Amino acid sequence: MATDFTEETAADAVIESFAKTPDPRLRELLDSLVRHLHAFVKDTEPTIAEWEQAIEFLTATGQKCDDERQEFILLSDVLGVSMLVETINNRTGGATESTVLGPFHVVKSPRRELGETIDFVGTGTPCVVRGRVLSADGTPLPGAELDVWQANEQGFYDVQQPDVQPRANGRGLFTAGADGAFWFRTIVPIFYPIPTDGPVGTLLNATKRHPYRPAHIHFIVTASGHRALTTHIFVAGSEYLESDAVFAVKKSLIKDFIGVDDPAQAAEFGLTGPFSLATFDIVLDPAVPS
Ligand SMILES: [Fe+2]
Repeated sequence: MATDFTEETAADAVIESFAKTPDPRLRELLDSLVRHLHAFVKDTEPTIAEWEQAIEFLTATGQKCDDERQEFILLSDVLGVSMLVETINNRTGGATESTVLGPFHVVKSPRRELGETIDFVGTGTPCVVRGRVLSADGTPLPGAELDVWQANEQGFYDVQQPDVQPRANGRGLFTAGADGAFWFRTIVPIFYPIPTDGPVGTLLNATKRHPYRPAHIHFIVTASGHRALTTHIFVAGSEYLESDAVFAVKKSLIKDFIGVDDPAQAAEFGLTGPFSLATFDIVLDPAVPS
């Protein structure tokens, strides 16, 4: 270990201290983290007060987290890091595009039968979401599991309103049928703000950024022998498609929610009035054999 820590030798001294790390990947991550973090500090030359403020911000971010609030995911999201990690890890072509998990996948979705509703309030615009889960070569994937979750028509998730919404409102775990098909009933989601009552809200406020996300429904889709897919569908025409606070929109994931005013078609889905119909075919990547 070198003595006389200087601006010039600082990064190398710290990197050298990790030289005996047995796990090569951990060593690689730490080396790069130290190099970039030191470069950031040398570039910006924070005052002691600014550095203390940074520590306080991160401390507050951790303190805001609990079983149903994940402020660090939110911070990663608004900095674009969640999307960058997702994008790097899903470069293979052909499959449905992925997007961020988001901070609200915090409770296990209850298992529901195909066609069941995930809306237990009944005040939004009725909606049917249907599609098929397929492998990259077009083979249907019966038994694929679809975990879906969304906000209510006022833009809140169940976990944000435990005293207002029924438990697990807006959530369901479905199993695709024999031909890979799935469908469920819900309501058309609306755009909503990410939570702004914590440090991430303070950050957005200080930088004059809005907190809104365009209307969307979350999916995690899994099937045996395939890579799991974390994604959303976005409602075509929603506000904020061009300026999602967490940078998660991909054009291929924007879907038309088509208005249907046909009693016969409504009856097919167990509905009685006008509704919106969204179709989302999902293609999964076959897993690379290990
Ligand atoms: Fe969301």
